[in-house]
Amino acid sequence: MHKTVQDVIKMKKERKKISAITSYDYTLASLCDKAGIDILLVGDSAGMVMLGYENTIPVTMEQMCMFTEAVSRARKNSLLVSDLPFMSYQASIEDAINNSGKLIKAGADAVKLEGGSIMAETISAIVDVGIPVMGHIGLQPQTTMLSEGYKVQGKTKDSAMKLIGDAKDLEEAGVFSIAIEMVSHEVAQIISETVSMPVIGIGSGAKCDGQVLVVQDLLGMYDKIKPKFAKRYMNLSEDIVKSLENYRNDVESSKFPAEENSFSMNVEELEKLRKEIGS
Ligand code: KIV
Repeated sequence: MHKTVQDVIKMKKERKKISAITSYDYTLASLCDKAGIDILLVGDSAGMVMLGYENTIPVTMEQMCMFTEAVSRARKNSLLVSDLPFMSYQASIEDAINNSGKLIKAGADAVKLEGGSIMAETISAIVDVGIPVMGHIGLQPQTTMLSEGYKVQGKTKDSAMKLIGDAKDLEEAGVFSIAIEMVSHEVAQIISETVSMPVIGIGSGAKCDGQVLVVQDLLGMYDKIKPKFAKRYMNLSEDIVKSLENYRNDVESSKFPAEENSFSMNVEELEKLRKEIGS
């Protein structure tokens, strides 16, 4: 049985740190699951790292459902949370419930949506139909990016008070967890100590209850944006390009395929064939 939202909530009570990573495809999700990561997040960052968009705004429900289905075929142990993409939940509560249901049918255990206090009513309605919700405050790529660009949140007292208020309202609305993105570490710590549910940070310091990273950042596979907070555990893109160059050279010099990569015919059959075609 895979992890549940209750297991993740319990981890905070037991002071165990929670690991989360984004996943979008079967192959990498299998490896993340095998590594024992607690939460696989099918983030709408898929739009950038998988589909090459400039930002997350063009991502559709159909795309999120396809990524969610692929990850759900791979996961055995982790909790699976999927993002509601831009404009799949903002226009009406009915949209929010319908689209959350689609992600759950695609294999998610819970959905995540961006927004603070303003989203409390919507979150409450989704939770009321039985779908667990993860909130997302601080930098919200679907909207903050439109007005401010990439900017650390919670650097002033007023901005900190707003974030703390958002977190409390989301707690009251019934989220099982909150992601906080690019928030000053002091404010992230205050929020983590204030609310009862797990706070999963990205670029928000070490005092959060857990951490999430985009898997391509961690593996060193996405070079377009290199956020300061994203620790690179390897430089996979260099290794991949090197391997592909080796392959190209092997093809050009006929080194590949070698005998061990080929299939042969039965010798007598080959003899008969040669006679028949006169070669
Ligand atoms: O889409 C995403 O990858 C996310 C994380 C940055 C939390 O929402």
